[in-house]
Formats: sequence, structure tokens, C-alpha cells
Amino acid sequence: MTTPHDYARTHAERFKQEMIDLLAIPSVSTQPEHNADVERAAEWIAANMRRIGLTTVEIHPTAWHPVVYGEWLGAGPNAPTVLVYGHYDVQPAEMADGWHSDPFIPTEREGKIYARGAIDSKSNVMAQMKAAESYLQSGKTAVNIKLMFEGDEESNSGAIAGFVAAHKERLKADIVAVCDGSMADLHQPDLAYGLRGISCMELEVWGPKQDLHSGHYGGTVHNPVQALAEIITQLHHADGSVAVPGFYDEVRPLDTDERAELAKALPWIEQEWRDVAAAPQQWGEPAYNLHERIGARPTLEINGIRGGYAGDGFKTVLPGKALAKISCRLVADQHPQRIYERVRDYVAQITPPTVRSELRYLESGDPALIDRHAPAVQAYARAIERSWSKEPIYVREGGSIPVVVELQQNIPAPVVLMSFGYKGCAAHGPNEHVYLDLWYRGIDTMLYFYDEVNKGL
Ligand code: BES
Ligand code: ZN
Repeated sequence: MTTPHDYARTHAERFKQEMIDLLAIPSVSTQPEHNADVERAAEWIAANMRRIGLTTVEIHPTAWHPVVYGEWLGAGPNAPTVLVYGHYDVQPAEMADGWHSDPFIPTEREGKIYARGAIDSKSNVMAQMKAAESYLQSGKTAVNIKLMFEGDEESNSGAIAGFVAAHKERLKADIVAVCDGSMADLHQPDLAYGLRGISCMELEVWGPKQDLHSGHYGGTVHNPVQALAEIITQLHHADGSVAVPGFYDEVRPLDTDERAELAKALPWIEQEWRDVAAAPQQWGEPAYNLHERIGARPTLEINGIRGGYAGDGFKTVLPGKALAKISCRLVADQHPQRIYERVRDYVAQITPPTVRSELRYLESGDPALIDRHAPAVQAYARAIERSWSKEPIYVREGGSIPVVVELQQNIPAPVVLMSFGYKGCAAHGPNEHVYLDLWYRGIDTMLYFYDEVNKGL
């Protein structure tokens, strides 16, 4: 009898071709001109779900982009059920950003597929789809499978929270597998048990009623770009910690056990930092190591600044206003709204009387911290060990998947965070790619996970 792993190996070439077909659809959720493409990607996934043996497949329209849902419940009501979450939308991409090949004409080079969405997150979606196919088509009937993929993760996950709340009975499961993100090393598997939350805002500073001649008024008007810079420099202390009063109040401290666990993964995280971030030197809170700074400490980041003239040549302008985009990454037990309020109050206090400022709240997501000793997480650790012949290292991720908290609130089942690709694959950047050998191993890992779930947690 064929095993699911044999099935996956036999069909490996077709699996890859199907991932390429999905990558070729530019499902960019933030650009309205791609709305039809996002729809097309949803339909492609639904058609594929029908082909792999899921018995109920639905495309749910939402106020934003559709949620694709498929299930196979043939194992019966007494068998365990796994619900898988992923996202099929992608970030924008253009050749001009520095791509060596068209981001939506997937190209294979040296064992990697280059395309927008390759690592974030269509390879994760397709690994889950092809694992489900291998499981069902090789005649396995022990575990019920529910697959749910959203099309708004890269914009704001605006629709999925409502979808989860409205369909919580339908989505009932024994384990929720959240499949997104990536691993710190190509040769050492990791298992993430934390995600940071996020609080996004924009700060506007204005002074004169419009742009002015810098000769006529320079030296008498507090330049809003300069005032913005002065405000921004007061958001951190010299050691890299955030200067906003109360910013760290709710941060759950790390206990010695967990610090020891995080320290185990530190060599890999540091190597990844050197390879991928490749900045001249580390920066940040001196009392915490690199892994802790990324996963267990909150940050305040300036994502962009706008103001005045920065085009070709010169313009002797005294800008009328300036704007900065700011986001705070949060950890348990911080609240996005409360953090926004503290930054807002502090900014109001340090804004000089020569200008006016306003801090506006944009979007947010709660941090998630999962018990790494939970049986479901340990079942996943065993699955990793079987497919890699190596124990995973435990990591706290710096990125955010806001839906995790909504899943936890609506579905009374443990969450397991899964990712199959490598972090150095340029998610959100030019020349995003996925390593095929890691992708195939991801399918294998998921198959071992179904087996572990079947054996009992
Ligand atoms: N795949 C990432 C999330 C991620 C990154 C998880 C790293 C784990 C590790 C996702 O597509 C993403 O980019 N999320 C945004 C969410 C934000 C806009 C609310 C993020 O983290 O910036
Ligand atoms: Zn992303």
C-alpha cells in the first residue's frame, strides 16, 4: 500500500508545477487593480481543493477578499480534526524594485522558485494542500481535515476575524495549525511558539499654513521636518530602549527557564541576523540578547518619513508639514490600543509649541504566546524530528499574525505555529523565493504531524 510520503514523492514534480501556477496569479490584496486576481487565486485554490479530495469546498465572499474553505470529515465525529489557517494574498511587487525576473512569472534557479508570494505564503498554502492530497489520496482516513485560507493577511486581515467568529461551530477542531512565517536556518528546523503583536500609527507635524520660501521665512519658522525629527529622536533612549512612559508596563517578564530555551536557539538566530540583516553591528537593548530582542521585547519602529522635497535637483522650500509612519511590535501582555494612547500622550507632551502634531491610530494585532509544552506543540515537535532526523529549536518570532488571537478566542483548541521555509528568502522584498527541498520537507512534516495526531496527543 502506498504511504502518504510515497504518494508525495511520486507526485513531486506535479506538486511543484501547481505551486508555480498559483504563484503566477498576482493576488496582491492591497492594490484594488488586482481585485480580480485575488478572486482568481481563490477560485484556483477552491478548484484544487475539490481535486485533492476535500468534499465540501466553499468560497466565502467578505467585505474584502474571499476566504476559501474546504473540509474532509470522512474520519468521523470521534476522530481528531485539524484546522489549518494560511493566506494566499501577497505583497505588491514590481520589476523596478530590483527583481531579476518578473515577480509573477515564477522562475526556477538553483533549486529555488523565484516569485512574489513564494515564501510569504503560497508555499505554505501549497504545502498544506499537497499534504492533505497525499494523506487523502493514499487512502488515509484517520484525521479530519479543514483548510481555511484568507486573502487579506497582507492588507489587514479585516475579514477573517469576522469569518472565524461567524463560523466557529463549523471550524471546530482539536488542533489549529497556523501555517505562515519562516525558519531561522536552512539546516536546523525551528518551532515557533510566540508572535509579536503590532500597533500601527502615523504622526503628522505641521506649522506654517503651507510650504514657504525658505529664504523669506527660514530661521523664523520651526521647520516641521526638523520638528518631526526632534520628536522622533526622543522616542528612544541612547541604549535603544523605548522612551515612551509606561511602554514596558505590561510586558510579561521572561523566566529563567525560558531564557535558557531561547539561548539554545541563539547561535542560529545570530547567524541568520548576520546573513540576512547584515548590518554593520547589532543594536538594541543591552540587557537582552538578539533572540530576546526579536521575540520577547517590544519595539518602536519608524517605517517611513515624508516631507519637503527629496526629488532630483533642489527646491529651497520650507515644508508646511511632515509625516512619519510608526509601528510598535508588541509582546504578551501588551495591548495595541493602550500602547497607542501612551505614545500619543508622550508625543503631545514633547511637541514644541512652535508646531502642532497629531498621532493617528491605524491598525493593530494582539501578540500571541503559546505554551511550548502543550501536547499539540509536542506532537508537532515529534513530526519535525521524524522528517528532519533532528530536534527543533524553539523560537519566538518577531513578526505578527493577528488572526491567531481571534482563533484562540473562538475555537477552543490549541494553536500550533508552523512554517516550512527559510527566513532569508526575501519576504516582502525583491527576488522573493522558496527552497524546493525545504518545501518538500514541509509536506513530509505535515504528513508526520497527521500521523502523530492520529496516534493521540
Ligand atoms: N508571514 C508574515 C507574518 C510573519 C512574519 C510571521 C515573520 C512570523 C514571522 C505576514 O505575512 C506579515 O507580513 N504580517 C504582517 C502583519 C501586519 C501588517 C499586521 C507583519 O508581521 O508585518
Ligand atoms: Zn507578509
